Amino acid sequence: MSLQERDKKHLWHPLTQHKLHPNHLAITKAKGAVLYDANGKEYIDGIASWYTCMYGHSNPYLIRRVSEQMQQLDHVVFAGFTHEPAIKLSEALIRILPDNQNKLFFSDNGSTSVDVAIKMALQYHFNKGEKRGKIIALEGGFHGDTFGAMSVSGLSVYNGPFEDFFIDVSRLPVPTTNNFDTVKHQLLALLSSGEVAAFIYEPLVQGASAMKMYDAALLDELLSLVKQHNVLAIADEVMTGFGKTGKYFASEHLSNQPDIICLAKSLTGGLVPMAITTCSQEVYEAFLSDDISKGFFHGHTYSANPIACTAALAGIELLQSTEIQNNITRIIKAHQAFDKRIKTHPKVATTRQLGVIYALDLNVEMDRYGDLRNKLFKFFMNNGVCLRPLGNTIYILAPYVITDGQLEKIYTVIEAALEEV
Ligand SMILES: Cc1ncc(COP(=O)(O)O)c(C=O)c1O
Repeated sequence: MSLQERDKKHLWHPLTQHKLHPNHLAITKAKGAVLYDANGKEYIDGIASWYTCMYGHSNPYLIRRVSEQMQQLDHVVFAGFTHEPAIKLSEALIRILPDNQNKLFFSDNGSTSVDVAIKMALQYHFNKGEKRGKIIALEGGFHGDTFGAMSVSGLSVYNGPFEDFFIDVSRLPVPTTNNFDTVKHQLLALLSSGEVAAFIYEPLVQGASAMKMYDAALLDELLSLVKQHNVLAIADEVMTGFGKTGKYFASEHLSNQPDIICLAKSLTGGLVPMAITTCSQEVYEAFLSDDISKGFFHGHTYSANPIACTAALAGIELLQSTEIQNNITRIIKAHQAFDKRIKTHPKVATTRQLGVIYALDLNVEMDRYGDLRNKLFKFFMNNGVCLRPLGNTIYILAPYVITDGQLEKIYTVIEAALEEV
């Protein structure tokens, strides 16, 4: 029996309607920007496996550092104990995060980093004796699949069945120059109720919302209002973090810094799962007290796993290297050149780019999970390129180590795909 057949016996895949999509391609190897299937067929990973393996699959430097750490210390409880990988990681991360960030809290994935952020914000006000139970989020956002993260995400097939059980959330439209006055008024009305604990946003790019991009100046103005009302700003940088927008973090494009930041995905370069919620000293201090119950009683078994911390530390070293920084510049330029050649194509409605994130919307109506989207996905895979269209949006977010030749292959396959729709 093939791996694909054996898979069907016991495995339940994420985000999948198994009745409609029973087959899952078995990948047996991955190296650099390339995935290999069980027959040895190659696919360029144009989305870095959900924007995670940004330093390339099976990166030799990450592997060496992680295997050395495995020989030394595998795991230890992080309540009451500490270790060098977590300490070194904290020092390296704080150096590159926005200036006001000073403390790190560990969890396991993007969703839990958001749940931690929400709980931190709610308890911050609770500890100060204020009853603030509402979170403001942006429409169409995606923050993950745990209950807090699902509550603050936009309504969709992901979270619809659970709406009755959400925490208290108000959603604002993503600001544009056209709707800005209305959005500002809506925000002010919510803020002046005195009930809002936090405002959560994906800075500048809503990843799962088909790489929707919005203006830094508009977000900055909203953040100014949020800050004036003693509401905490939570930047979900799970997708945007670690160089993707051309800066280490998307928040660096703004002048208002968030109080709390969520990090995951490429934090560990795809080797092992880990997430971190960082916060300012001011947030942290609201939890310091002689009263034990004011502490933050949240904790996951694998908090600050030394192996994951080492992967993250080595990842930051790679991110800061001249080689990766040059690669980022090279990819940005390549996307810009591709944009010039594709944006006037009759099948292309709009294009957009921020850093190494590139997206184009087709001029064709397509359901998020519809047949045309599936046809396009199949076309890409048949042609050796792994791109997963989101509705009628095709996006590229490839590993930083992708070569010029591999990028060009992605571009030409996209051009060929346009003839298919
Ligand atoms: C912005 C953002 N936040 C949170 C998450 C959830 O992360 P995870 O899938 O690791 O739980 C995602 C996942 O795509 C994301 O893009």
